[in-house]
Amino acid sequence: MKIYKTENYDKMSEKVASLLAAQIISKPDSVLGLATGSTPEGTYDCLVDWYDRGLLDFSEVKTVNLDEYKGLAPEDHNSYRYFMDQHLFDRVNIDKNNTYVPDGLADDPQKLCDDYEKLIDGLGGMDVQLLGMGHNGHIGFNEPGGEFPMACHCVSLAPRTVEANKKYFASEDVMPKQAYSMGIGTIMKAKKIFLVVSGEEKAETLGKVLHGPVTPEIPASILKFHPDVTLIADAAALSKS
Ligand code: PGA
Repeated sequence: MKIYKTENYDKMSEKVASLLAAQIISKPDSVLGLATGSTPEGTYDCLVDWYDRGLLDFSEVKTVNLDEYKGLAPEDHNSYRYFMDQHLFDRVNIDKNNTYVPDGLADDPQKLCDDYEKLIDGLGGMDVQLLGMGHNGHIGFNEPGGEFPMACHCVSLAPRTVEANKKYFASEDVMPKQAYSMGIGTIMKAKKIFLVVSGEEKAETLGKVLHGPVTPEIPASILKFHPDVTLIADAAALSKS
């Protein structure tokens, strides 16, 4: 695993954006696996800034997102589709028909998951997968457990995840407790992975990811088995590694 340690969140975001920009420039029709949450917000801001300055062209880029809350409509302000539109898609020249996020309102969850997996395979898989990491070591919404889920699936969110994400909702009661997520197997099929981690509160878990055993109790630990992972983390996140 290649590791970039940055001074702070802003420098981390610039570094991740520069790696993504290099990918888009060298392969304009890249398939990017994208993530939501507070971690990549700065990265998307950088990409939009560089697009505004004429340095990036998203016209041929395709994207597939990691996950979506079950039960949220695309226009719901807490849906990950809405997040992506707000933070990136509506701010650059990407063709929205080439941006994919699981449908939170799907009638048939299993069919949605099967179709999403097929869609990813049909696109030839992700050239790069951007990943944040939960406080409990989750990637996508693959929560700690007894096994590594292989394919896209419907998941019940762990209490630590509800705790971390409830701040975005009017109350914990209205926050969905289930989500659709790429599986660990789906993520591991990406040709390249950028794992992005910020903040002291994730330092202990990141230390375990880097130095502990590979275990489904810490889902991100599996990334040590992927041949091309780059970790971009700020000094606070790496303070216990
Ligand atoms: P965060 O979430 O970026 O909002 O901390 C990361 C994650 O849960 O994967």
